[in-house]
Amino acid sequence: MSFTIVEEVTPRLNRSELAVPGSSPRFFEKAAAGDADIVFLDLEDAVAPDDKPQARKNVIQAINDLDWGEGRLSVRINGLDTHYMYRDVVDVVEQAGAKIDLIMVPKVGTAADIYAIDMLLTQIEQAKGFKNRIGLEVIIETALGMQNINEIAAASPRLESLHFGVADYAASTKARTTNIGGPNADYLVLTDADAEGNRESHWGDMWHYAIARMVVAARANGLRPIDGPFGDFSDAAGYRAQALRAAVLGCEGKWAIHPSQVTLANELFSPSPAEVAKARRILKAMKEAQRAGQGAVALDGRLIDIASIRQAQVLVKKAREVGARKPRLAPVKKAAKKPAKNKKPAKKKAAKKTAKARR
Ligand code: GLV
Ligand code: MG
Repeated sequence: MSFTIVEEVTPRLNRSELAVPGSSPRFFEKAAAGDADIVFLDLEDAVAPDDKPQARKNVIQAINDLDWGEGRLSVRINGLDTHYMYRDVVDVVEQAGAKIDLIMVPKVGTAADIYAIDMLLTQIEQAKGFKNRIGLEVIIETALGMQNINEIAAASPRLESLHFGVADYAASTKARTTNIGGPNADYLVLTDADAEGNRESHWGDMWHYAIARMVVAARANGLRPIDGPFGDFSDAAGYRAQALRAAVLGCEGKWAIHPSQVTLANELFSPSPAEVAKARRILKAMKEAQRAGQGAVALDGRLIDIASIRQAQVLVKKAREVGARKPRLAPVKKAAKKPAKNKKPAKKKAAKKTAKARR
C-alpha cells in the first residue's frame, strides 16, 4: 500500500438509486415505501422549467410529511449554470434539511462547483443548527467534468459518490446516439475474414472509458462510483447487461428510472450466494496457507495469494452490508397532510369552465 491511505466515505448501501420527478407527487409515497437503497427527488431534468417552483414545494412537503427511512434520501438540485440552483439549495435545505441525507449536484464541471455548494450548505446547516451533515453526490456528465474528475473527486469531505450521467455526457461529447445508456451497433469491431471470407462483428461498450475513469477517480478518493440511467425500462435484459458490466468494473450501483429497475439493481449489485461461497473458501484456504507459512496456494487448480484475500474480503463485506439492510416494509405515512399537487382546486376549475361556457 501507499503511505497515503484512502479512507472510505460514510458507508451507505447504494445498489439502486431511484429517480423520482419532483413534479409528480403521485410517485412519492410508493418511492418512500419502496426498496431502493437511495431515492432522489429530482428538481432538475425531469421537471419542466415552468414546474420548478411547484416541484420544489412538493419536494419540501414530501420530505417533511413522509417517512423515507434511514440514510436514503437525496434531492437533485439544478445545475450551477441556472438560477434555479440557489433556491433549490436555500429553500429545500432550510425547510427540510434536517431530514435530507444527500444533495445530488448535476453537471459538475470543476472542483469550484463543489466548493460553492459546500459553502452554501455549510452556512445553512450552521444557521439552522442542523445536527446532520448533508453529503454530496456528484454527476459527471460533461466533457469538462470528466476532464476535471480527479480534482472534483477530492473537492470536499462531503462527497460520497460519483455518478455517470450517460445521457448528458453523450450530449456534451456529441456522441452519435439518442439512447439513454446502452450499447450502440455502430461501436463495433470486425474480425478478420476466416477461410470462407466470413467476418464477425462484435459490439463494444462505448461507455467503457468513461465508467472506468470514473471508478478510478471515485475509488482513489474513497467515494462510491455509481452507474447512471438506462432509459428503456421495458428491457430488463438490457438493464441487466449494463448493470453487470458496471458492477464488474467496480461500480456499486446503478440508477433506476422505474421501480422495476430497483429490484434488478438490488439483485445485480449484491454478490450472489455462489460468489460469496467462493470468497469464503478463498479466505479459508488462505488462512490455512498462512498457518503453514505459505503466501500462495492452489484452489480448484488456480493460484490464490494474499491479494486474493483482499478481493474476497470486498465480496464478503458487501454481502454482510446487504444482509444487514432491513427491507422497507413499514407504513410510510407520518402526517395526514397530502403532498401538494400541481393541479388547481377542483372547484376553481369547475367555476372557470362555467365562466368559459357562458362567454
Ligand atoms: C443523467 O442525469 C444523465 O444525463 O444521464
Ligand atoms: Mg443529466
